[in-house]
Amino acid sequence: MSTRADAGKPAPPWQTAAQPPETSDAIQALLAGYFQRLAEDASASRRDPSEAAAQAFRNRWLGRRQGVLQQLHETLLKPAPPAWKKALGQALNLLRREADALAEALEAAARQAAARQRLASEALDITLPGSPGAGRGAPHPLLRVMDEIVEIFAGLGYSRAEGPEMETAFYNFEALNIPPDHPARDEQDTIYLGPGLPGLLLRTHTSPGQIRVMQRQAPPLRVVVPGRVYRRDTPDASHSPMFHQVEGLAVDEQLSFADLKGTLEHFARVYFGTTRARFRPSYFPFTEPSAEMDVECFACGGRGGAACRTCKGSGWIEILGCGMVHPELYRFAGQASGRWMGFAFGMGVERIAMIRYGIDDIQRFYSGDLRFLEQFRD
Ligand code: DAH
Repeated sequence: MSTRADAGKPAPPWQTAAQPPETSDAIQALLAGYFQRLAEDASASRRDPSEAAAQAFRNRWLGRRQGVLQQLHETLLKPAPPAWKKALGQALNLLRREADALAEALEAAARQAAARQRLASEALDITLPGSPGAGRGAPHPLLRVMDEIVEIFAGLGYSRAEGPEMETAFYNFEALNIPPDHPARDEQDTIYLGPGLPGLLLRTHTSPGQIRVMQRQAPPLRVVVPGRVYRRDTPDASHSPMFHQVEGLAVDEQLSFADLKGTLEHFARVYFGTTRARFRPSYFPFTEPSAEMDVECFACGGRGGAACRTCKGSGWIEILGCGMVHPELYRFAGQASGRWMGFAFGMGVERIAMIRYGIDDIQRFYSGDLRFLEQFRD
């Protein structure tokens, strides 16, 4: 290979120089030519910042067999008269070090250029629209069911509100007319947040949302409060220490139990497609009177019998608790009691989803099993 660096070799200095090597002018002159060629070669190589060009430069100067320095060693240093050897060796070392430094700089520049190129080719254009199709996620079935419930009430003029998951005992219990000795407050049910956060707990239901909304907003109001709730439960097919509820509250001047029934029957019709519902008397501290609502089983058409797994044979499915807002609640919420009438309801999202889709185990919602989750994709 003919190289840029080795053309026109000058004569050995001991042939041209009359002086002994101590003054070494002849060596300086000889080496100056090589230094200049080295610099020129480096700047030419810089124009192509590739690893191959840097490697070629290194080979040209420092290659073990053909490199300029090796050739100088063979043709200049080896045959030099002993008196010249030391000074000549030192001069060649300088040239070697310079060549090595320049080769390293070229290699570093090549690596940088390669990294820049890789970054440029891997750059994402985040302004491009996303591509739908395989790999696209989908809302979790619980969020989806929760949104569907909220949406049905939105059609009736209900707005959506949220409350904190970390609650005070006042909002979770007192303000809902649940006295200190009520069993629902038991540590067996309620997850208290411990000595570091006195008086705080994880809300056991979304009902505190009723009080928070009434404190913020004067009636007339219609609101749904979806969210997570927590109870000290051992996980099994129908229990989970964390689950979801949707709370509903309507307060106005003249709301009656008939409005409550009409509203919830509308919900059941839209969501389950059922036409018949029944209200069984029940008890909640924050409603009076209170009821539990059952819808006719949509799987067996209400016929019941041992064969129907959806309603376990009764022909009816319990879907929520409800009632007329207890007069005490207006007082806790700072609203004039006596003026307002309202109703409230609360439903478990998991339960509603399990009924609707025939899901047999609540844990499936939390397992992250894509075979289950993907069935709810649009
Ligand atoms: N908070 C009750 C629970 O978690 C559900 C409930 C019942 C909410 C009746 C209500 C209601 O608003 O009126 O079991």
